[in-house]
Amino acid sequence: MKVEALPAKPGEHHLHNYEEQSASFDWSEVEKEFSWSKTGKINMAHEAIDRHAESDRKNKVALYYKDQHRHETYTFYEMKRMTNRAANLLKSHSDLEKGDRIFIFMPRSPELYFLMFGALKMGLIVGPLFEAFMEGAIYDRLDDSDAKSIITTPELLPRIPKDRLPNLKTIFIVGEEGESEGHIDVLKHLHSCSDKFDVEWLDKEDGLVLHYTSGSTGKPKGVLHAQYAMVQQYQTGKWVLDFQEQDIYWCTADPGWVTGTAYGVFSPWLNGVTTVILGGRFSPDAWYQAIEDFGVTIWYSAPTAFRMLMGAGDALVKEYDLSTLRHVLSVGEPLNPEVVKWGAQVFDKRIHDTWWMTETGAQVICNYPSMAIKPGSMGKPVPGVKAAIVDDQGNELPPNQMGNLAIKKGWPSMMRQIWNNPQKYDSYFLNDEWYVSGDSAYMDEDGYFWFQGRVDDVIMTSGERVGPFEVESKLLEHPAVAEAGVIGKPDPVRGEIIKAFVALVEGQEPSDELIEDIRQFVKKELAAHAAPREIEFKDKLPKTRSGKIMRRVLKAWELDLPTGDLSTMED
Ligand code: WT7
Repeated sequence: MKVEALPAKPGEHHLHNYEEQSASFDWSEVEKEFSWSKTGKINMAHEAIDRHAESDRKNKVALYYKDQHRHETYTFYEMKRMTNRAANLLKSHSDLEKGDRIFIFMPRSPELYFLMFGALKMGLIVGPLFEAFMEGAIYDRLDDSDAKSIITTPELLPRIPKDRLPNLKTIFIVGEEGESEGHIDVLKHLHSCSDKFDVEWLDKEDGLVLHYTSGSTGKPKGVLHAQYAMVQQYQTGKWVLDFQEQDIYWCTADPGWVTGTAYGVFSPWLNGVTTVILGGRFSPDAWYQAIEDFGVTIWYSAPTAFRMLMGAGDALVKEYDLSTLRHVLSVGEPLNPEVVKWGAQVFDKRIHDTWWMTETGAQVICNYPSMAIKPGSMGKPVPGVKAAIVDDQGNELPPNQMGNLAIKKGWPSMMRQIWNNPQKYDSYFLNDEWYVSGDSAYMDEDGYFWFQGRVDDVIMTSGERVGPFEVESKLLEHPAVAEAGVIGKPDPVRGEIIKAFVALVEGQEPSDELIEDIRQFVKKELAAHAAPREIEFKDKLPKTRSGKIMRRVLKAWELDLPTGDLSTMED
């Protein structure tokens, strides 16, 4: 399908000629824009905040924050002062040192960002946690990374199993709580802390953020990114998000996920761009209102959100002034052509799809404002990054052949480690040359990439990545469950929903109450988004002779497809 390009005057965009710029581009050109390329001294918080506070952008708005209760504005200068205070607070109430892991487990608020960047100023590795996580999920992450500290709120505090985490020395609490041994009341001290702080200078390979994410087997794994990721986060802000000095940018992702760090704050602030953070839950009214109130010009969201907005109806769109929007983007799951079409109708903007992963640290395959969009395609690789479709041996496949979506090892924002698990890290790479994404795709004759599905069993539900193994393990802990198999079931709004097939222990009878009880059990232990929306009882689940649940067969049952080769199935 040929579609004409977004109207774009050549030269107006940072990436104005994709082919030409890709051919000649070298990342060292971007490095030169940072002083660390000469001094060797790097720190994300300096580049994202202090650098602007010491420039003409001093009084420019860095952050517009809004939720049901608060509506606040902070300039880059104010952000510098508040993050210095946060750094002093963290430093004076703990023995945290450069490279130590500190987690942030709280809903969005200005303090979350003060503390996140305060921690970065100290040279700590920040582990963001989504506020929906429950005790089991928190424990796994803090235990695996040997976390020394966590920042949370009084409401979320009970979910932190401190007794089982002997190395977790200091808990910083934002909100009324009162202090006790190892519990520090952030709001009591923050405003009296000094607003001067000498940032800890780091090496470009030192740690930045540790995001836990799911695979198809095993517990969630800790994906570590280095300070150097900023090179690609900065440059894609220009090429893909098309940042200009006057933009008001809104990324809807929570910082508990990689989009919310890399593109919620790092990329815009590295570029000195004003960022909107909206707290609270998804609501079509509040979202459109935010675009109108702040005059949002660039909006980065996800297919599930767009589909839910679509479901809220076009009449609602007309109640708001959304005329400031000039660039709309999406990430996280396949962006259906219908949604692109809807976006063009109601916002008069084509939604630009972008593809990347927690492990890639920044955008990799994208649609650019100056390039024609083929609805349904993820676009083309970011200049300076080589993506290809390879077979299982690592041979590049010709156009229009489906295979593994792979990236040539060594792009700037590539993960640097899987925490505590070098084997897992190595298992991502083929012939020490290709990073294999786990997605299948093909590239057409014009070089556009088309997503086809996951190669493994990883589930993408409402843009959130859930490992079936984790859910299955949790289901098995329920006293009534004997066997469990979990799959992603296609869903028109959420992309996929989690569906569990469950065999009960002897003497247990299927019932609606039991379904609800099992759902609640997973929800309480892991997180609401990890709880199966559907549970179906079976007498027995299909297993291999070695006892592995055959999710492929469950999926075939669900979709009414042929079950394929069953030679490894037990009798
Ligand atoms: C998986 C990565 C960092 C972005 C948020 C998700 C799926 C991501 C697209 C897209 C189709 C997409 C892939 C990928 N995905 N973007 N544009 N079209 N699928 O990060 O949680 O690490 O998940 O999300 O399956 O492997 P994540």
